[in-house]
Amino acid sequence: MMNLVLFGGPGSGKGTQSARLIDNYGLYHISTGELLRDHIKRETEIGKLANKYISKGHLIPDDLMISIIEDTLDGEAKGKRGVIFDGFPRTIPQAEALADLLRRRGTDLHAVVGLEVPDEELTARLLNRAKESGRSDDNPETIKERLDVYHNQTQPLREHYIRQKKYIPINGKGDVNDIYASIQEGLRHQTGREPLKK
Ligand code: AP5
Ligand code: MG
Repeated sequence: MMNLVLFGGPGSGKGTQSARLIDNYGLYHISTGELLRDHIKRETEIGKLANKYISKGHLIPDDLMISIIEDTLDGEAKGKRGVIFDGFPRTIPQAEALADLLRRRGTDLHAVVGLEVPDEELTARLLNRAKESGRSDDNPETIKERLDVYHNQTQPLREHYIRQKKYIPINGKGDVNDIYASIQEGLRHQTGREPLKK
């Protein structure tokens, strides 16, 4: 098993890099943002609630997020070689819950890949994507709020995982292929794992 967290601000490339990692390492991808957007599209009760938070750029409540993760671990993700958590955890209580959920399933979190990108670049990427994404949170006002939420509520996790010696800092600015190569190198160093294919 190899369980990874892809960590970084809004627009840092978590989705872009996850797509390659799942394929090359044979992992299951859990993007909490995508799961919630799917609920919104299907107009479920969770979707109706989540929409109120997402459209403002705020985090949905920890309890709800953690129960969705738990259901996914016991559902679609069960029996896989490992999981990439993209966009989770985003708060200290979520990080503590994740450690507990994995421990109770006889496994662990092996590494946290931190995509480090300056705010100006994040804003530029998201404003560019806003032209076509159709995401309710890709607009100038909500992007600013997402960055504030990231710095206030999520960034403290960086220190948390540095203390646990799980954090792999990656320069997330530049060519997508070069960033992927740094992640692969970081994972080799941290976990000793090689991709199934390159
Ligand atoms: P989520 O969907 O996770 O959004 P996010 O964190 O804001 O990040 P994005 O998905 O926008 O960006 P990304 O890092 O995946 O980058 P991407 O690869 O797309 O969360 C949305 C909302 O859901 C939250 O605000 C919250 O409300 C709720 N939520 C989610 N998880 C939660 C949780 N755990 N707890 C509570 N609430 C939660 O790339 C971005 C753009 O940049 C793309 O256009 C891409 O093509 C481009 N790009 C990528 N890499 C590069 C590069 N190297 N150079 C140039 N451009 C690049
Ligand atoms: Mg994403």
